[in-house]
Amino acid sequence: MSRAKYIAGNWKMHLTKRRASTLARDMVAAAENSNPAVKVAVFPTYVHLDHVRRNIRNSNIILGAQNCYGKKEGAFTGEISPYMLRDMGVKVVMIGHSERRHIFGETDAMIFEKVKIALRAKLDVMLCVGETIDERKAGETFKVLARQLKVLKVVKPAQTSRITVAYEPVWAIGTGETATPQIAQEAHAECRRFVGEILGDEAAQQMQILYGGSMKGSNADELLSQPDVDGGLVGGASLSKDDFSPIINAASALS
Ligand code: PGA
Repeated sequence: MSRAKYIAGNWKMHLTKRRASTLARDMVAAAENSNPAVKVAVFPTYVHLDHVRRNIRNSNIILGAQNCYGKKEGAFTGEISPYMLRDMGVKVVMIGHSERRHIFGETDAMIFEKVKIALRAKLDVMLCVGETIDERKAGETFKVLARQLKVLKVVKPAQTSRITVAYEPVWAIGTGETATPQIAQEAHAECRRFVGEILGDEAAQQMQILYGGSMKGSNADELLSQPDVDGGLVGGASLSKDDFSPIINAASALS
């Protein structure tokens, strides 16, 4: 089964309004010069969403948000509803990023609620999963991935095409250390197997599973060449055109 490649830039808590707008315009140019079969998404911080939306308006770039709250509305000071994101023009929301899990204490139960309400708000979901270095050393990687992917039980059959999984080994995020293509392939194949157990084989075969963790121009081709690696969720290297374009180009060449 051939799946389209998907390259997503996670801008985290970086950039000013002006720099985010410039980067968005650079991304439009990079995407225009790439293979149209490659999906490209950017995930700016909440307060830059509208500026970025305007700058990518006439392009195929998908607008994503980095998080949402697990309720539609209410007295939740400082939180953002997925319905508000949808209203703002956001198409996809990232849920369960390891920085949310480990710095902000998000649990699988919270992530379950977020996935449920985001789908109900008609957003696509990018569900992030991944093990810490201690879990990997203890041989628990697949157990952790299976547990984290269990939230997909909330997904209805008609919603499966709206889910993307990002496998992000925590030890490779922002560290410069990348999973070898073999480690990534092994974990992705396992994720796909777990997805199959929950949502069925057809959904698993169609699901795009992205790799995240220090992906850059110099390693993108090797990682993206793995049969179960369908794209990249890119942090540090998504913050400049010169670093991000080679990753889009690598995906283009393989599409
Ligand atoms: P990184 O971040 O590419 O800087 O490692 C990836 C991510 O956290 O999505």
